[in-house]
Amino acid sequence: MQLADRMNLVSESITLKVSAKANALKKAGVDVVGFGAGEPDFDTPDFIKQAVTSALEKGQTRYTPTPCFPELKQAIAEKFNRENNLPYKPENITTGAGGKHCLYMAFMAVLNPGDEVIIPSPFWVSYPEQVKLAGGVPVILPGDESRGFKITPSQLEQAITPKTRVVIINSPSNPSGIAYSPDELRALADVIVRHPQVIVFSDEIYEKLLYDGLKFVSFATLHPDLFPRTLTFNCHSKSFAMTGWRIGYIGGPKEVIDAINKLQSQMTSHITSFIQLPAALALSDPRGAEAIESMRQQFEKRGHHMWQRLCALPNIRCVRPQGAFYCFPNVSAYFGKSIQGHTITDAISFASALLETDHVAVVPGNDSGFDTHVRLSFATSLEQIDKGIDRLAAFLNKLQ
Ligand SMILES: Cc1ncc(COP(=O)(O)O)c(C=O)c1O
Repeated sequence: MQLADRMNLVSESITLKVSAKANALKKAGVDVVGFGAGEPDFDTPDFIKQAVTSALEKGQTRYTPTPCFPELKQAIAEKFNRENNLPYKPENITTGAGGKHCLYMAFMAVLNPGDEVIIPSPFWVSYPEQVKLAGGVPVILPGDESRGFKITPSQLEQAITPKTRVVIINSPSNPSGIAYSPDELRALADVIVRHPQVIVFSDEIYEKLLYDGLKFVSFATLHPDLFPRTLTFNCHSKSFAMTGWRIGYIGGPKEVIDAINKLQSQMTSHITSFIQLPAALALSDPRGAEAIESMRQQFEKRGHHMWQRLCALPNIRCVRPQGAFYCFPNVSAYFGKSIQGHTITDAISFASALLETDHVAVVPGNDSGFDTHVRLSFATSLEQIDKGIDRLAAFLNKLQ
């Protein structure tokens, strides 16, 4: 069957291939230590789950308005005002089936063919693919490892052209686990302010997972000119351990939000009816914030432990994670070495040999613009972290 030309624009995910291999091994009864998951290992807090039962009992099983019930928009607007100092009103809010769907709709709503989108790397795998699908051109801006993978204001200034339409900011970041300080973000904001044709997509889905006492600031608050030029993305997936629920939301200028709603009215209409009021409750009930903080404290402990153990391995360099739940070590010192007939040439061959010989699943950085690094998620127990790093140490020791 002939497929649409646009399907050639999208790359197949290497990451999915590695995780399919890990799943096949697990199914065959192999004890695989999984550092691949991009999701919390905790369950959704009970009070949010119970709210779904009550929504179903109340018969919230029919179509709702696009994009959602007004109560959810109101709760999101209040969250942005209260926690992020962002004066969005309900008319500035839309929702979608997870952060991923929200980003895709937003690219579709603002990009014209040939518009450039600046993506600092290492980046979340879907940004460039979504940009291409929407007719845009991804412009990758490499974050230097020696500066903690952070792009500099002068790098950003040089990358902006008359065709630049969007700059993506993702702090805390997947896959590097780094977080920009408020001052570093302000310096990037000062550059963007000077280019009025540029808008910002601030992907803040890891805002609650910050460590070492770092404070989160929303990008749109950094300069009065930026508030009307920024779309702020968030979701329930990572902070509330609700990845499977598919709840994402955007705050932004009304004209863009209206355009996204128009698109959505012809695509999905709205997110699932009976999760909408539970999603609102998660944001407004103090038990939501308590649950997040308890998970954050555990992630902080685990992240620090994994990072210390990685740094103690010979010839492994790792930037200290200060957000999200990922360590992103550089494994390139082992390129050119072999094990059981596999030669390591990049992060993919490293990850696949590690999985096959010592049964540890990690994500190669190739899909994120770094073929010298692998991503290890610390959304798993301290015992699993120790077991996996012990196996990684044994693997490195065997490489010749
Ligand atoms: C940086 C970043 N943005 C967006 C998403 C998408 O989130 P969701 O699972 O809500 O679609 C992810 C998911 O891993 C992510 O890491």
